[in-house]
Amino acid sequence: MILLTGATGKTGSATAKALNEKGITFRALIRNEEKRGDIESLGGEVVIGSIENKEAVDQSMVDVETALILLPNSENQLSLEKQLVDSAKQAGANRVVKMSSIEATPDATSPIPKLHLESEEYIKQSGLSWTMIKPNFYMQNLLASAGTIKDQGKIFLPMGEGKTGMIDTTDVGKVLAKVLSEDGHESMNHEITGPEILSFNEVAEIFSKGLDKQVDYVDVPLAAYKETLGQFLTNQWHLDAVIDLFKGIADGGIEEKTDTYSELMGESPKSLSEFISENSFIFKS
Ligand SMILES: NC(=O)c1ccc[n+]([C@@H]2O[C@H](COP(=O)([O-])OP(=O)(O)OC[C@H]3O[C@@H](n4cnc5c(N)ncnc54)[C@H](OP(=O)(O)O)[C@@H]3O)[C@@H](O)[C@H]2O)c1
Repeated sequence: MILLTGATGKTGSATAKALNEKGITFRALIRNEEKRGDIESLGGEVVIGSIENKEAVDQSMVDVETALILLPNSENQLSLEKQLVDSAKQAGANRVVKMSSIEATPDATSPIPKLHLESEEYIKQSGLSWTMIKPNFYMQNLLASAGTIKDQGKIFLPMGEGKTGMIDTTDVGKVLAKVLSEDGHESMNHEITGPEILSFNEVAEIFSKGLDKQVDYVDVPLAAYKETLGQFLTNQWHLDAVIDLFKGIADGGIEEKTDTYSELMGESPKSLSEFISENSFIFKS
């Protein structure tokens, strides 16, 4: 049995869908009864409970062979991931697949990449077989700019000249479904970028072409951006951590794309222009 955590979120739901398309059944630990139907419609078995509830976690691990550890960023993420690993081990699971990030490198100083790396180390020490999935910046993060793209033709972000190799979460879900359901990925770090390394000025140019209207990138000073983001992200740890992550992008970001997606999937990952075209109804007024 495959266990998914985070199955109702961006990456987890893409993973559940991709598993269903492959005809593979799975179990999901979810906290919201109202989302049960979404999982069951994809052939998934549901355990209702919070990741913070050890009893629910232990219950979800019964007869699990491979567990996906996919948690949202929070101050408690590391301790909750450790609890999941301990529970998987105790239940006799064979392997954990951890959703990490490409920035989680030994020289990372930012809180989110650092906690991912520490969690990776814990998993490697656990004696369980493991695979790390390490994507770059999600194209779906741009959906937060849909309103200003639509109304003002502007993307307000604090990324300076920094670059990312944006990847669509659907593609990450496909990789996860493959890795969770196959052997041969043990002790591997799958670093995943999209097909192009782009600055945010280049991102705006691609939006202009895709939407057939002028879209500009406005480089917002980090302090001003933090003030705006603080209206939505009310947890101080999370706000500081996201700002620190964005500062890392502004300081340079990712310089080289990886071929991991095409090597694993035998096809190219989605380009930004394809993503814009698929989601044009969200970006167009
Ligand atoms: N965004 C990026 O660009 C990016 C890039 C690389 C890596 N990552 C990593 O991806 C991870 C986040 O993935 P995501 O963006 O797919 O997450 P997401 O969309 O925020 O979804 C979070 C999931 O966790 C579930 N969840 C939260 N608290 C829970 C609890 N107490 N008990 C049970 N379930 C709980 C949520 O359930 P509900 O539906 O009930 O809320 C949801 O299914 C992070 O670790 C991040 O570092 C993100």
